[in-house]
Amino acid sequence: MKNTSRLAAVTIRHLFLIVGVIVISSLLLGFTGLSQVVAKEGTPYSLDPPLALQDPDRYIPKDNPLTKEGVELGKLLFFDKRLSVNNTVSCATCHMAEVAYTDGQPVSTGVFRRQGGRSAPTSINRLYGKMHFWDGRAATMEAQAVMPITDHLEMAMPSHKAVEDKLNTIQGYKKLFQEVFGTDVTIGGVGKAMASFQRTLLSGNSAVDKFDRGVDDNALSLSAQRGMEVFREKGRCTSCHSGFNFTDEEFHNLGIDWDTGKIDLGRFRVTKDQKHIGAFKTPTLREVARTAPYMHDGRFGTLKDVVAFYSQGGIKNPFQDSDIRVLNLTEQEQEDLVQFLIGLNGEGWQHVTPPTSFPK
Ligand code: HEC
Ligand code: HEC
Repeated sequence: MKNTSRLAAVTIRHLFLIVGVIVISSLLLGFTGLSQVVAKEGTPYSLDPPLALQDPDRYIPKDNPLTKEGVELGKLLFFDKRLSVNNTVSCATCHMAEVAYTDGQPVSTGVFRRQGGRSAPTSINRLYGKMHFWDGRAATMEAQAVMPITDHLEMAMPSHKAVEDKLNTIQGYKKLFQEVFGTDVTIGGVGKAMASFQRTLLSGNSAVDKFDRGVDDNALSLSAQRGMEVFREKGRCTSCHSGFNFTDEEFHNLGIDWDTGKIDLGRFRVTKDQKHIGAFKTPTLREVARTAPYMHDGRFGTLKDVVAFYSQGGIKNPFQDSDIRVLNLTEQEQEDLVQFLIGLNGEGWQHVTPPTSFPK
C-alpha cells in the first residue's frame, strides 16, 4: 500500500514537472521571436494546379500564406542582381526562366566567376519538396532562399544583416516590405517572399499526364508509351522516381563522382549517417528534357546518356543503392525511355515574365 501511494505521489510530481516544462518552453518560443515576420492581410493568390498535381494549398505553410503582393515582391527579389555583393548575380542568373529555372551549365558560376561543384536544379515544383538542395540541407523553402545570398561562391554578401542594410537603403523595397510584412526589410521577409514566388512555379498537364489519365489517348507516341512501360517495369525507375512528382524525396547513391577521384559525400555531410555516403536527392523528372545537363555534377549532356548510364548499372561503389542494377536495356528500350521523359514537359510555370524595372 505504502509503496503504491509513494509511487502515485512521484508520478503526480512528474506530471507537474512535465506540464511546467511545456508551458515554459512554449512561452520561450513565443518570446524569442521564432515566429519572425508575419505577412499582413494581402490579396489571396490562388494556385490553379495543372493536371496530375496534388492540391498545392496543403503544402503552403500557415506562417507564409500566398498573397499577390508577397509573390510579386518575391519575384522582384529573385530577379534583382543587387542581392549580390557586386550587383552582378541574381537568383535568376542560375535559375533562368527560359531553361525551366536552371542555368544550362554543368556547374553554376556566381560572382567573380566563382564556380562550385554542383549543378543548379530547377525551382519548379519545389512546393512539393520535403527538403531542399541536392543534399537536403535546407528544411524549408524559406530557409533555402536566403542561403545563396551569403554563399561565397554564389552571391557572396558578407552577412544577412548586410543584406537587410543594403535593401533598406532602397526606398522602393522599404515601402514594399512595409506593405507586405508591416516592417522594414528583414532577411526573414526576403526568404518568405522568395519562397512564395517560387511556390507559384508548377509543372503538370504533360503529355504523360494526359495519356495516363485518359484525357487524351493520342498524347503520347507509341515509342513514349513503350517507354512508360520500361520506366515502370524493366527499368525500375519508379522505385525512386515515384508519385505524381516523380520523386520519393529520398537520397540515393548512384555512383556519380566515384569515377573521378574527388567524391562529393552528398547527404552524408548533413547527417553523418553511413547510409548516406555519396547519396543525393532524387530530383523530379518533370520538365527534365529542358533542364540539361544532368546529375548533381552536370556530367550528362543528354537524356540518352542518362538512360545508358542506368542501363549499365550506374557506377559501382561500396555504398551504391541496391535499387541500381544492371538493366541491359536494348537500344529501342533506351530510345523509348527518352521519348517518355520528353513527355514530362508540361505547363504551370510559363506565366512568369521577368520584371522590366526594379524598386528604386
Ligand atoms: C551561382 C548560381 C546560383 C545562384 C546565384 C542561386 N542558385 Fe539556387 N542553386 C544553385 C545550385 C548550384 C544549387 C544546388 C546546390 C546544392 O544542392 O548544394 C541550387 C539550389 C537551389 C534550390 C534547391 C532546389 C532543389 O531541388 O532542392 C532552390 C530552390 C534554389 N537554388 C533557389 C535559389 C534562390 C531563391 C536563389 C537566390 C536567392 C538562388 N537559388 C541563387 C545555383 C544558384
Ligand atoms: C535508386 C534510386 C533511383 C532509381 C532506381 C532511378 N533514379 Fe534517376 N535519379 C536518382 C537520383 C538520386 C538522382 C540524382 C543523382 C545524383 O546526381 O547523384 C537521379 C537523377 C536522374 C536524372 C537526372 C535529373 C536531373 O535533373 O539531373 C534522370 C533523367 C533520371 N534520374 C532518370 C531515371 C530513369 C529513366 C530511371 C530508370 C531507368 C531512374 N532515373 C532510376 C534516383 C534514382
